[in-house]
Order: sequence, then C-alpha cells, then structure tokens
Amino acid sequence: MTTLFINGSSRTAGNTVALGERLLTDIPHQTIHLIDQHLNFDCDYRDTGHPQADPSDDYQQLMARFATADDIVLGTPVYWYNMTGQLKTFVDRWFDSFTTGFPFAGKRLYLVVVGADDPQHKALGIGQSLQDSCDWLKMTYMGATIVTADGPHDVAQMAQLPADFTALRERLLAATAVVSRETKSN
Ligand SMILES: Cc1cc2nc3c(=O)[nH]c(=O)nc-3n(C[C@H](O)[C@H](O)[C@H](O)COP(=O)(O)O)c2cc1C
Repeated sequence: MTTLFINGSSRTAGNTVALGERLLTDIPHQTIHLIDQHLNFDCDYRDTGHPQADPSDDYQQLMARFATADDIVLGTPVYWYNMTGQLKTFVDRWFDSFTTGFPFAGKRLYLVVVGADDPQHKALGIGQSLQDSCDWLKMTYMGATIVTADGPHDVAQMAQLPADFTALRERLLAATAVVSRETKSN
C-alpha cells in the first residue's frame, strides 16, 4: 500500500471525496475520513518535560498508515476561506511526529480543494501553507486542484474538471507508476 487519501471534509460522500476519488481513479489506495477519527488538538509541550505526544487518541495509528505511504492526497472543502478544522488539527499534530523523528522526508503530497465562493482565488492560502509545511518537513508538494462546487453531488456530476485536475492526476499517475514498477522489481 503506497497511496493514501485523507479526507478532511465532514461529508464522507460529498464533493471533496468525489474529487479525491476521481483523482485516484484506477490507482490502488486507501481512504481515511478524518471525521471518523478521534483526534485531539495539538498541545505544545516544549519546555514542560512532558513528551511531545498524545497516545490517547487515533493519531499514532493514523501515522502508522501515513508511514507506509509514498503518495498522500489531502482533501478539504473550504471552510471560512481555509482548510477545515479536521485537517488543520491533523496537520498541527505533525509537530508531535516531527519532534520524534517521523520519516516525513521524500513523501509526495497532493491537495484537492472544493469551495463555493471563488476558491481558485480565495482559498490559495491553503496550498501555500501546505507547501511551506512540506518544505519544512522535506516532503515534496506536488500541487493542488481547486474546484468550485457547493451541493453535495456537484463534483460527482461534473462532466469536466479543470486543467489543474488533469495536471495533478498526470503527476500522481507518473509517481505511482514508478513506485509500482519499483515494488514489482524488488
Ligand atoms: C462551515 C462551512 C463553511 C464554509 N465556508 C466556505 C468558505 O469560506 N468559502 C467557500 O468557498 N465555501 C465555503 N463553504 C462551502 C463548502 O466549501 C462547499 O459546500 C464544498 O463543496 C463542501 O465540500 P464537501 O461536500 O466535500 O463537504 C463552507 C461550508 C461550510 C459547511
């Protein structure tokens, strides 16, 4: 298992999931809905003597699956011109993993975003923050597709998706084909 889709929407069959699954068509992957996970907010334990960790929720199990993935698709609807709280909470917790030497380096991250109000312009900050986070953690940010949709079935019903979707899918297909070839030859 080398590809993971992490859905940050509260809808498990809405636009973000439809977009992520369309991006991953014919690519073997597992899907995780953050809304089904128990995730606590990150606590900054620096200078307290407390380990930078919270073993009381699902985060460590989630990261065990993250560790096996080379390619990770993060999905979020736009909530108040940003990523959802679910996804932000998950990303905040990467601080725990970073502090304890989790092997982020080399993983490839893809972003899918759906919003109702001109997200191509008003939600650009989501991609920027994830790109900067990838740089910090030495992951490779592979880019984003941002789609305008609101009703829960809008993306599923779209006959055509934007050019950034096609470009991101091509990058994902190329990366996962290499991983698949390497796995077969080992
Ligand atoms: C709490 C909440 C806040 C939202 N805030 C925004 C927003 O700031 N900008 C925007 O473009 N859409 C906003 N939306 C609309 C969603 O981004 C849109 O309906 C999206 O298609 C939902 O995706 P989903 O079906 O994957 O949940 C908001 C929706 C909710 C429920």
